Amino acid sequence: MDRIFSGVQPTGNLHLGNYLGAIRNWARLQDDYDCIFCVVDMHAITVWQDPRELVRNTREVAAAMIAAGVDPKRNIIFNQSQVPAHAELAWIFNCVARMGWLNRMTQFKEKAGKHKENASVGLFAYPNLMAADILVYKATHVPVGEDQKQHLELTRDIAQKFNNDFGVDLFPVVEPLIFGAATRVMSLKDGSKKMSKSDPSEMSRITMTDDADAIAKKIRKARTDPEPLPETPAGFESRPEAANLIGIYAALTDQTVEDVCAEYGGAQFSTFKQALADLAVAKLGPVGAEMQRLMDDAAYVDGILRDGAARARAIAAPILAEVKRTVGFLEP
Ligand code: TYM
Repeated sequence: MDRIFSGVQPTGNLHLGNYLGAIRNWARLQDDYDCIFCVVDMHAITVWQDPRELVRNTREVAAAMIAAGVDPKRNIIFNQSQVPAHAELAWIFNCVARMGWLNRMTQFKEKAGKHKENASVGLFAYPNLMAADILVYKATHVPVGEDQKQHLELTRDIAQKFNNDFGVDLFPVVEPLIFGAATRVMSLKDGSKKMSKSDPSEMSRITMTDDADAIAKKIRKARTDPEPLPETPAGFESRPEAANLIGIYAALTDQTVEDVCAEYGGAQFSTFKQALADLAVAKLGPVGAEMQRLMDDAAYVDGILRDGAARARAIAAPILAEVKRTVGFLEP
């Protein structure tokens, strides 16, 4: 069976983009793949995290995965820092990847902003750790939202350069799995910006633990334009907010954007927003409630992460040993 790896950062404010673009899809892959899902706490600390919050947020992401339907027995769910092989392979990749490759990463440019000199070294080397996450298990498929595509291309470059440099066929070619109608959910306040955990405006995102009132309010206040909804996707030209809301509706109902346009074309936003709010509450409410229930049972969640980490370590160990032999590290 092909192996899947994917991860989410425990940086708080888990939102609808994380759910529709990534986590929800994972539950749908568990029958066809051997799946490993990771709470990437080592990635999180590339920017400052309050230690107590980090612990809480780590449990929150694990709870979200389980609440979204990922079975922790059939799959592996764990937090990255419990498996040292990630960091060990990341160091080797620091020596494979080129400065020029990392300099091109748009996520680094966005996150570092104008003050590149003040960014942590970890933030710059972030994609190397991500490549290590995936390749330390020789995973072949990585389900993510669109914003991670560039990082996965880099993962392929690193794997290929390693294989070429050492004359081996050790690492596989990684394929991104980007699917559904919501691979890039945009901010509810600005259709040109992606929905993000770090947007200062809470109204820009629906979080996975928002209650029914908050979900409905955020949708009601979402930015739109005065035109009625278009009858085909061609009508989204220069209407990013309309495209975003219809994309969310399509993803939540497992329809295509074309189907939703056919149903609501010509309707006013007030009508559509009410339908979307009802739908979002019906679909997200139970997931949020289950997340909350799991987060109240920290011992249970911690047990799952511990068990997952032990199973992950067992898969990673022989692969890391093979890498070390290839590089020429004298083994004990
Ligand atoms: P992170 O924590 O930013 O996001 C987790 C997942 O959610 C997706 N996502 C979105 N999808 C649609 N619309 C949005 N607005 C949106 N925002 C986020 C992301 O694409 C991602 O799939 N670098 C990764 C974490 C990571 C990882 C890995 C992923 C570390 N190692 C190895 C895959 C494989 C990240 O920051 O995701």
